[in-house]
Amino acid sequence: MKATQEWTAGEIDVLARAVVRAPSVHNTQPWSLELPDGEALLFERTDLALPYHDPLGRDRAISCGTAIANLELGMRVLGRRTSLSLLPDPERRDLIARVSAVGGLVPTDTDLHRYSAIARRRSYRQPFAKQSVSDYDVKDLLAAPGTDGVQVVALRTEAELAALAGLLDYAATVLRQDRGYQRELALWTIRDERSHRHGVGVAGGTLTQTPLPWAGLVRPSTPLPDPVALADRLAGETVLLFLTSGDTRLDHVRAGIATEHTWLTAVHTGLAAAMQTQPLHLSEVRSGLIERLGLSGYPQLLMRVGHPAGPVPQSPRRSVNELLRPE
Ligand SMILES: Cc1cc2nc3c(=O)[nH]c(=O)nc-3n(C[C@H](O)[C@H](O)[C@H](O)COP(=O)(O)O)c2cc1C
Repeated sequence: MKATQEWTAGEIDVLARAVVRAPSVHNTQPWSLELPDGEALLFERTDLALPYHDPLGRDRAISCGTAIANLELGMRVLGRRTSLSLLPDPERRDLIARVSAVGGLVPTDTDLHRYSAIARRRSYRQPFAKQSVSDYDVKDLLAAPGTDGVQVVALRTEAELAALAGLLDYAATVLRQDRGYQRELALWTIRDERSHRHGVGVAGGTLTQTPLPWAGLVRPSTPLPDPVALADRLAGETVLLFLTSGDTRLDHVRAGIATEHTWLTAVHTGLAAAMQTQPLHLSEVRSGLIERLGLSGYPQLLMRVGHPAGPVPQSPRRSVNELLRPE
């Protein structure tokens, strides 16, 4: 069954705002949205490329996945049952998702909670408060995605955290010295937020000068702790690793959908989180994780979760009008 109901101006606004607030690599917001009657089409914007950070576009696909999760939640709180089709048209490579409204639905509590967390979610790159995340909450986070082909694991043992710390330290050392990479990152980092009018880019004020892993993006000035101190610090946080069964564009989109559901669940629970793909852009870090942790899937991203120690500002966004494509 396919509904053909036209979206009202208010509904368009709800859906566009949900999409625009999704997290994206370097806050590029690499998507656009078309809202034909009874459907929502999410397109990837390949013009927003990051040749050094993301040459293969995997982070762009993950970012589109986070936007799809928000879009679907928006449609559900508007009372629509949704049917999601990913990469539905081989002739239109930039069409990442078609979400069709296929009838009415009363949104579940989970839908409402996650939707309401969209506006409160932000990347939390500071040290967390001392209180650790309860086992009960970790269980909820691990169960949150419900996305085919995506698995989330919590890294807890000393051996796992030592392996991760060693690889993060290695990645940071390499990336700090990579000039082309650092130039691109600087271009996408907002220094003076008042003068920034484009609504894109990583808010410089949210990147700390503290040593890893709190600085979510390694810059030339990021201090490196020794791996033992780093493993110790990671042990005080909840570190989640998202794995996919394959390593295709479809897997990357699915990883993004799963990530956003987990992140929104964390926010609803009163927790804060930040995600990292930066170290995983080095293939030796990816393969190192697979080998040392004995993983049965492809590692796509890391997420740190904890209790917030204080507020963090919301990062900028493009206007909703820039997001919407004319039909
Ligand atoms: C695919 C992807 C990769 C990301 N990688 C990193 C990362 O390595 N380090 C980091 O600090 N933030 C990372 N982020 C978070 C973005 O920088 C953040 O979502 C964006 O700046 C918008 O800010 P907000 O999350 O506070 O809304 C990533 C986000 C996505 C979707």
